[in-house]
Amino acid sequence: MSKINVLTVFGTRPEAIKLFPLIHALQRDDRFESRVCVSGQHRGMLDQVLAISGVEPDHDLDLMKPDQSLDELTAGLLTGIGRVIDAEQPRWVAVQGDTATAMAGALAAYYRKVPVVHIEAGLRSGNIHHPWPEEINRRIIGTIAALHCAPTETAADALRRENVAPSSVHVTGNTVIDALHWISARLTEQPALAENLAELEQRFAGRKIIGVTCHRRENFGEGMQAIADAIRRLAARDDVAIIFPVHLNPNVRRVMTAELAGLGNVALIEPLDYPHFARLLALSHLLLTDSGGVQEEAPALGKPVLVMRETTERPEGIAAGTAKLVGTDADVIVAETERLLDDPEAYAAMARAHNPFGDGTSAEQIVALLAAA
Ligand code: UD1
Ligand code: UDP
Repeated sequence: MSKINVLTVFGTRPEAIKLFPLIHALQRDDRFESRVCVSGQHRGMLDQVLAISGVEPDHDLDLMKPDQSLDELTAGLLTGIGRVIDAEQPRWVAVQGDTATAMAGALAAYYRKVPVVHIEAGLRSGNIHHPWPEEINRRIIGTIAALHCAPTETAADALRRENVAPSSVHVTGNTVIDALHWISARLTEQPALAENLAELEQRFAGRKIIGVTCHRRENFGEGMQAIADAIRRLAARDDVAIIFPVHLNPNVRRVMTAELAGLGNVALIEPLDYPHFARLLALSHLLLTDSGGVQEEAPALGKPVLVMRETTERPEGIAAGTAKLVGTDADVIVAETERLLDDPEAYAAMARAHNPFGDGTSAEQIVALLAAA
C-alpha cells in the first residue's frame, strides 16, 4: 500500500515548536511519508527550532524580508507554497495555528483541492482586531480544513458553533505540551543545552526573576511603549530582575532598546533558543507576556502569567487560575505584577500547575486521526 504523504507547512518560531512533535511522530510511523516546507517567514528564530528539533526542511521558500508587510508576505507565501504543493502532490497539507504562512498554506491547498489538517483549530477571541491579523487567519483556515484538531473542548465548541461538521472536529490537546515534555527530557539528559543562562542566573541570584516576551502587532506603538514603561518602573525595585529576550521584529526592538537598555537589573537579550527559553520559564517567578505559546506553557509549569493583551483566545489558562489578562496600561501591569510580588497568597493562588492543554500525546492522536481519515 502506498504511504500517506503529509506536507507540513510552517514559517515562524511558534509553529515550528508546535509542529516538530507531529513531524517526529510522522517520521516514526511507516504508514506515512513526511515532507516539510518552511516559508522562512521567520529566519533566525525559525532556524533555532529546526536546529534543536533536528527537522530538515525539504523546501525552504526563504521569504523573510526586514519589517515585511503582510500583503507582500502573503502574496509570496501563496505562490511559493502553491508551487511546492504542485511538486509534492501530498495527500494532506498540515498547518498549525494562525500565522500568515498557515493561512496561505491552507488557501494554496484549497486551490488544489488538497485536504488540510489544522492543528490548534478553533481558537477564537471574537474580535478581528485582537489578535490582529491572527483571528481572521484562523477563521479562514477553519472554513477550509477537512480535519480540525482542537486543543480543548472550548475550541471544539467554537468550531461547532460556526457549523463546522462535528465529525471533522477532534479534541487532541495542544502539541505545545508534547514539545515541552520533549525539551524537558532533553534538558534532563543534557543540562548543558541551556548553559548560556548561567551567567545571568548568577548575576541575579536572590532576586525574583520576571520573564518577559512581547511581539503582538496590535500592541505596536502605544502598547509597546506602555509595556516598556511598566518594565522600567518594575526595574526600580531591588528585589526583582527582568530577563527579556527581545523578539527580532524591529517594531519591538526599537522601543525596548531605546527605553530599557542599560538598566542594571534588566537583561535585554537576543531571542533564546527553545532549551534556553524552557530554562528561563523554570527560573522565572512570574511571566509578563503577550505571546500565545507562553500562555499555554505557563499553566503546565504552574508559573503565574500576566497577559499583556486586551483579549485572549486561550481562556483555559485564565479559567485554571494561572493566567490573568492585564492589557497594555502601564499602571495596571505594574499594579498586578506588584500584587504577585508582594502578596504571597495572591501568588500561591496562581502558582499551581494545570494541564488544560493536554497531556503531551497530541501528536500521536493527530497521527491516528490522519491514519483513519
Ligand atoms: C509572526 C506572526 C504571529 C506570530 C509571531 C510569532 C503573522 C502575521 N504573524 O509575527 O502570528 O505570533 O510571528 O513570533 O503571521 N524578524 C527577524 N528574524 C526572525 C523573525 C522576524 O528579523 O527570525 C523580523 C523581520 O524584520 C520581519 C519582522 O520581524 O520582517 C516581522 O516578522 P513577521 O513574521 O512578519 O511577523 P511577526 O511580528 O514576527
Ligand atoms: N520562545 C522561545 N524563545 C524566546 C521566546 C519564546 O523559544 O526567546 C518560545 C516559547 O517557548 C513558545 C514560543 O516561542 O513556545 C512562542 O512564540 P511567540 O511568542 O513568538 O509566538 P506566539 O506563541 O505568540 O504566536
